[in-house]
Amino acid sequence: MSSSPGSVDTRSLLQDSDLTKAQELVYELVVRQVMTTPVVSVQPDQTMHELGEKLRAAGIAGAPVVEQGELIGIVSMNDLINALERGSRDDPVRQWMTIDILTVREDDSVIEAVKAFASRPVGRIPVVSAQGSLVGIVTGGDITRGLVRALDLDHRSDEVSHYRASHIFQDISSHDTSLTLRYTVSPRDFSHSGEASAKVKRALQRLGGRPEAVRRVAVACYEAEMNLVIHTDAGGEVLVEVRPDRVSITTTDAGPGISDIESALEAGFSTAPDWIRDLGFGAGMGLENIRRCSDEFSLRSEVGSGTKLVAVVYLGQGNRLGRAPRS
Ligand SMILES: Nc1ncnc2c1ncn2[C@@H]1O[C@H](COP(=O)(O)OP(=O)(O)O)[C@@H](O)[C@H]1O
Ligand SMILES: [Mg+2]
Repeated sequence: MSSSPGSVDTRSLLQDSDLTKAQELVYELVVRQVMTTPVVSVQPDQTMHELGEKLRAAGIAGAPVVEQGELIGIVSMNDLINALERGSRDDPVRQWMTIDILTVREDDSVIEAVKAFASRPVGRIPVVSAQGSLVGIVTGGDITRGLVRALDLDHRSDEVSHYRASHIFQDISSHDTSLTLRYTVSPRDFSHSGEASAKVKRALQRLGGRPEAVRRVAVACYEAEMNLVIHTDAGGEVLVEVRPDRVSITTTDAGPGISDIESALEAGFSTAPDWIRDLGFGAGMGLENIRRCSDEFSLRSEVGSGTKLVAVVYLGQGNRLGRAPRS
């Protein structure tokens, strides 16, 4: 995997043996909260020389190319250097820009931007609205700064609310009850994707779950929910059962099913079509992340009839990411 200056190292974000608060926030924050706006853009008929002036004045290393309000390409300092080396300073930007652009949506979770950076060696990704218009731009630096800001805020509010809520959780424990949350997920509905897992997370926080366990449930639930959005014909259901000692996440759908489960479980394997990858999804890390976050994991699938995934996170002390519980 190549990485570019200022990009985020996805491997360290996704594959540490413990989920950190920062990792949790990567899932929780949306791109809108970290992107830079307004965007400095150029027009396709401006010259490469003018591009250079613009980049220098703004102190940036690349810019989206916009024609009549529409995003048509992206051009970087590298393109400028190449153009100048060939003596093409008067060429229009159109001739040197990249037209195969990766974008992320402003409502996407920041993890999707991180995955997008991992999928291609780019330094910046244009951010588009649900309607497809350019609303911002995001770099690895933006993500890091957004995380630091969020960590700071989180740190100040966390302890107090966690302490207050923990009573409620004890009540549940003493009565040995369980709480069931159920959500229906629509296929390809990216504007609502992640909502079920966000609600589950909030519920567990209010119940006073240990932050580390809540984090693991939130990540597993998000990835499981996204698989229903991305890969199913008709969506599916997310069912979360909270018990005093464990949270079980079950997703079910009615197809298309997985033909090769072993490959599907491999990190980096994805059958997501190009247009979904271009939105920043489909990096093939979902099932791997779910497995690593859970103490019990099972995936059953039959082509033509559907898929059932179960991930269980133990809430007791001493359980670490992906490690089997002590019995
Ligand atoms: N509910 C599902 N129905 C059908 N296929 C699925 C489902 N969940 C996962 N898959 C398959 O498993 C692959 C790997 O999933 P995952 O690790 O989450 O990566 P990604 O979602 O980024 O492709 C998917 O590309 C898809 O082929
Ligand atoms: Mg997935």
